[in-house]
Amino acid sequence: MIFPESFVWGAATASYQIEGAVKEDGRGQSIWDTFSHSPGNVAGGDTGDVACDHYHRYADDVSLMRELRLAAYRFSVAWPRVQPDGSGPANPKGLAFYDMLVDKLLEAEISPYVTLYHWDLPQALEERGGWTDRDTAYRFAEYAEAVHDRLGDRVGHWATLNEPWVAAFLGYGNGVHAPGRRDPASAMRAAHHLLLGHGLAARRLRELGAQELMLVVNSAPVLTPAQVNDPEAVAGPADAAAAHRIHTLLTRQFLDPAIYGRYPEEVLETAERNGGTGHIKDGDLETIAAPIEQIGVNYYNPCVVEAGPGEPADAAWPGSEGVRFAGADAPTTAMGWPIVPDGLSRLLIRLSRDYPQVGLMVTENGAAFDDVVENGRVHDADRVSYLDGHLREVHRAIEAGADLRGYLVWSLLDNFEWAEGYRRRFGIVHVDYSTQARVPKDSALWYRDVIVRNGL
Ligand code: FCB
Repeated sequence: MIFPESFVWGAATASYQIEGAVKEDGRGQSIWDTFSHSPGNVAGGDTGDVACDHYHRYADDVSLMRELRLAAYRFSVAWPRVQPDGSGPANPKGLAFYDMLVDKLLEAEISPYVTLYHWDLPQALEERGGWTDRDTAYRFAEYAEAVHDRLGDRVGHWATLNEPWVAAFLGYGNGVHAPGRRDPASAMRAAHHLLLGHGLAARRLRELGAQELMLVVNSAPVLTPAQVNDPEAVAGPADAAAAHRIHTLLTRQFLDPAIYGRYPEEVLETAERNGGTGHIKDGDLETIAAPIEQIGVNYYNPCVVEAGPGEPADAAWPGSEGVRFAGADAPTTAMGWPIVPDGLSRLLIRLSRDYPQVGLMVTENGAAFDDVVENGRVHDADRVSYLDGHLREVHRAIEAGADLRGYLVWSLLDNFEWAEGYRRRFGIVHVDYSTQARVPKDSALWYRDVIVRNGL
């Protein structure tokens, strides 16, 4: 099973999850510092204070990437390193770190894919309303420009936001993520302002000469329980309506504005019932629809739903009244997430049909398992099987005509898995948090061979 010549192989990480060094070189506080330091928010009371200490170990980490033959590395920039208070002049020391990282990557012939926002909003902006405040979108575009000014001569691949659904609906809806607010109206506002920030930043970056722009979404096929193991299963009208509604809230809420410059009717109705639509101003949708080259797709598992008459809306899903979130008849990872590899091809094929104007890239895919180090090795056969199964589906989607340009495994390193802390290990490289020793797991060695062979 051989992939196209131009197919890009790589791995992804995010700033707060790996960097540590939260007080160094003028870095300001982010909402994740505040949130993780507030008892009860993160399993085990874990914080990103030290994480993988990548801030000090980036050079070795890049050497490791090179040994694994990665062609691309997606990382995120910590906004509070660049603008400690979220606005005003850039902090040169904060930018210097990414400058050195980019140089190391280029020396190793690894293409940098920069994500500008992977959830670490400066705390100072949260205090002024965070993403519920329209001004944050403008601040984001200003920050994007500062990063481009420093890295744009060497970086061609830019992602504005990582998973705006998660940032809005777990951050401001059910409060499982920072800043931990629980208010459906705030979540709807945050979602719109994130999109506005995306559009403003994309336009700014384009003017500055950025070659390739992308929006990264957490998308998933929304299936009824019967469809998990039988793609041909036909849902009854009530279940089909439930699935359509969740697909709209999860995927169309973000991609329809970004690609077509319009909100689905159901999203506007949901906003209307949750605080109103007054925050959506004339011209916003035009801004949001700034041309981009690619959609980044983060896929872990399908979303499984059925009709649930009388069900109230889930806190993370304003507009989900009458929908029941169901389990899947499938094996699960250590996160409890069902393993459904062909969910990925179903998703990619659908996105390529619904949004044919843009290319696709799998910007995250991977799995957490309870890995153990034995005699200096980690035999993570279940991760190898997860990755192998999903890559076969990526190949299937390409054969079916999807314009799929690359695949980035989540994650290079075990890291701070948000509300789950360090107990969930997603890396293809094991990290011992007491010594910071890195040990490539069997999956890393397997992945290296896949890359070298450009296939399975
Ligand atoms: C995604 C996030 C990423 C990581 C994986 C497991 O939602 O983008 O940071 O936590 O999930």
